Amino acid sequence: MDSQTEAIRSLDAKYYVDPEFFEREKHGVLAHSWQFAGHASLLENSGDYFTFEIAGESLFCVRTATMEIKAFYNVCQHRAHQLVQGAGNMNTIVCPYHAWTYALTGELRSGPNIKVVPGFKKESICLSDVRLENFCGFLFVNLDPDAKSMDECFPNVREELTSFVPHIESLKPLEWISIPEKCNWKVSVENYSECYHCQLNHPTFARGVVKPQTYDIQPQGYCLRHTTECQNLDKMSYPIDLSSNEHAGEYSSWFLWPLFSFQVYPGNILNTYHWRVVDHEHVVVWRGWYSMQGIDENVIHSLAVQDRQTTVEEDIHLVESVQRGLQSRGYRPGPLVLDPSCGVKSEHSIKVLQQWMREGVITAGNTVSNNSR
Ligand code: FES
Ligand SMILES: [Fe+2]
Repeated sequence: MDSQTEAIRSLDAKYYVDPEFFEREKHGVLAHSWQFAGHASLLENSGDYFTFEIAGESLFCVRTATMEIKAFYNVCQHRAHQLVQGAGNMNTIVCPYHAWTYALTGELRSGPNIKVVPGFKKESICLSDVRLENFCGFLFVNLDPDAKSMDECFPNVREELTSFVPHIESLKPLEWISIPEKCNWKVSVENYSECYHCQLNHPTFARGVVKPQTYDIQPQGYCLRHTTECQNLDKMSYPIDLSSNEHAGEYSSWFLWPLFSFQVYPGNILNTYHWRVVDHEHVVVWRGWYSMQGIDENVIHSLAVQDRQTTVEEDIHLVESVQRGLQSRGYRPGPLVLDPSCGVKSEHSIKVLQQWMREGVITAGNTVSNNSR
């Protein structure tokens, strides 16, 4: 084979098993991309806050007195103690170390005896804030102050999502299911981003939810958009009302590189995938299920149970086996199956994804990752 016709091979195993690569990703893609912080309904009242971690950084979101939502690094500007833990409500942000006190908007208000510091100007001290966007009620942050907006990174997604889930702003979490996986985050994300394995491994999903022969995945900026029709109604594993919405008979998902996906199941049921990276060989997948105002709905609840027992369970075994295989001396990356007509038996989406993965690892001379380019 000459170089013109040589197959495109899957990513080298070192990307998934080498802790050094993970360190470089922490300064690369993980520090320069939009990542899910939490749902806005967690911050209903002024002073509500919650903490979370991204790229090894502790951060928190808080609702201010003017009902704005802000995100900050969780670190005091005095001598670096962590400010808040978990979630709760506060009138001001008081550091537990020496009681320096900040407004919810981040400005330093007071500190014991700070007036003795020569030339001290408390107005000059403020918590370090982080870029934050409210995307249809879902809060995302980006550690890169120069990152492009979410609408630039993920064109048309907001509009498409709203047409599939018109009441999206009124949704609240109904269930959260956490799934620890012993694999590199990219193994899990790749598994999510192709349906070449679906018919063999996901019988319930492939026969009782979607029609695999109509499945396709296409890039849309830094989003991978999955589209397919629902299964024939007599084979669906749960009831749907096709007249309820123009998209009720479709399944669609919008994977937002690198670690989040909105999914809309047939019947316009919104659910999310959210990967929390632990280290180079552990990731936790959070499956979120949403309903109007978070009110219990039997169909959504039973779909969440079915999904956990079938697709999610089946995927755990696949991704953990792949991680073990990537550590084998006997593995040489194989060719991606790239069908020019795309479709369910093609890995064209993996080709795109692995290119983003290559760009997301900082190497000498490459100090800026994808989203800020
Ligand atoms: S480190 Fe926060 S008040 Fe001293
Ligand atoms: Fe899968």
